[in-house]
Amino acid sequence: MDRIAITGGARLNGTIPVSGAKNSAIKLMAASLLTDEPLRLTNMPRLADTRFLGKLLSRLGVSVTESDGVDGQETVLHAPEITSGFAPYDLVRQMRASFNVLGPLVARSGQAKVSLPGGCTIGARPVDLHLQALEALGAKIDLHEGYVYAQAPRGLRGAEITFPFVSVGATEHAMLAAVLADGTTVIHNAACEPELVDLQECLNAMGAKVQGAGTPTVTITGVARLKGASHAVIPDRIEMGTYAVAAAMAGGEVRLTNARPGLIDSLLVKLEEAGAGVEHTADGCIIRRNGDRLNAVDIETQPFPGFATDLQAQFMALMTTANGESRIRETIFENRFMHAPELMRLGADISVSGGEARVRGVAQLEGAEVMATDLRASVSLVIAGLVARGETTVSRIYHLDRGFERLEEKLGACGAQVRRIASDGEQEL
Ligand code: EPZ
Repeated sequence: MDRIAITGGARLNGTIPVSGAKNSAIKLMAASLLTDEPLRLTNMPRLADTRFLGKLLSRLGVSVTESDGVDGQETVLHAPEITSGFAPYDLVRQMRASFNVLGPLVARSGQAKVSLPGGCTIGARPVDLHLQALEALGAKIDLHEGYVYAQAPRGLRGAEITFPFVSVGATEHAMLAAVLADGTTVIHNAACEPELVDLQECLNAMGAKVQGAGTPTVTITGVARLKGASHAVIPDRIEMGTYAVAAAMAGGEVRLTNARPGLIDSLLVKLEEAGAGVEHTADGCIIRRNGDRLNAVDIETQPFPGFATDLQAQFMALMTTANGESRIRETIFENRFMHAPELMRLGADISVSGGEARVRGVAQLEGAEVMATDLRASVSLVIAGLVARGETTVSRIYHLDRGFERLEEKLGACGAQVRRIASDGEQEL
């Protein structure tokens, strides 16, 4: 299995272009199931997760064509007809978001059999809200032997859906299913993440009638059919935030481009509070830090526009060398501190109790062998490795490849000493 080795100590200076958002791209790809015409997605990240979903969609009847066009990396998805409504365990287990094919399949062809995703390293992550939404839309749902059987032979019908708490995936799933329903659907207590606005824009370009995404109430007037469209994937706010934290950690000056800084305000405010310099630019921001040690700052994860849970691990890495004690509260997932013991292998001083971690900054981390446990946890270890004395080796980096496009290349271009060690030897990048 590949590993990443980081030699700590280099400051970061340069420009990092931000890729299209993974967590938007995979929902937009699922939208291709809703029409018999081609959906062209530009600003597409090339990641293990997008390749993976492409594989599942191909099994369902979607042709998936990747190319580098005038608009950069693009993927055209075309489902003239749904050839199978079956998403097997092996494919859904490996990527939970695959579960979101269920709604579009039922909406378009009236039936589907999709594996339940199961738990994952950051928590139990049930899908009860997804199923409640589909039932409200008139789908008959049965659970047998780990599979969801959903049927709506006469099509879905508009409904009032009130989520008891905010769920990004369930809101997206309800939107994907309701666009072809008969009548109007109103989603109350909807998630407000920017990826939902991106999904609304793409669906509307396909002829859907969705409004309100980005607010707690989303209204969808069902249409009989959708058409093909071209849509540019929103920039990845989590990737942007990750490199902003990396720059604050290593010091130097990094310009992030092809991005929208307004989407990570809650992080940028905290970086400034900690003592990093933040300058907004037309297409991103510049993060600066001189030699001074950062100050400890507290954070609490919240749904958008609060501090993103997907940036919590990276911020914890940053706080390991700050001056003072930082309290980090995780409120979205019940088990999202798996990176803490790995950071402690690098010399960090962290104690975890329930949903709160206390990080007491140390003057210097020491390189060590550490293990990635999930996507954002793995990149937090890379960030810590940027300042650890000597070499840090991160194993199980297939997690990283799921969500960070050309990470070694992007950090390396700014002077970081990061290299991938292939399982069969060493490959310098
Ligand atoms: C999305 O997950 C993202 N994944 C996550 O990013 C992100 O951390 C999360 O939203 C929160 O922002 C994708 O977009 C693919 P939720 P999602 O439904 O949709 C509970 C990454 O690293 N819940 O908003 O699964 C759930 O267990 C990933 O890129 C239920 O109880 O998140 C969690 O505690 C990790 N029942 C909370 O709600 C349900 O039916 C919020 O989850 C659904 C969710």
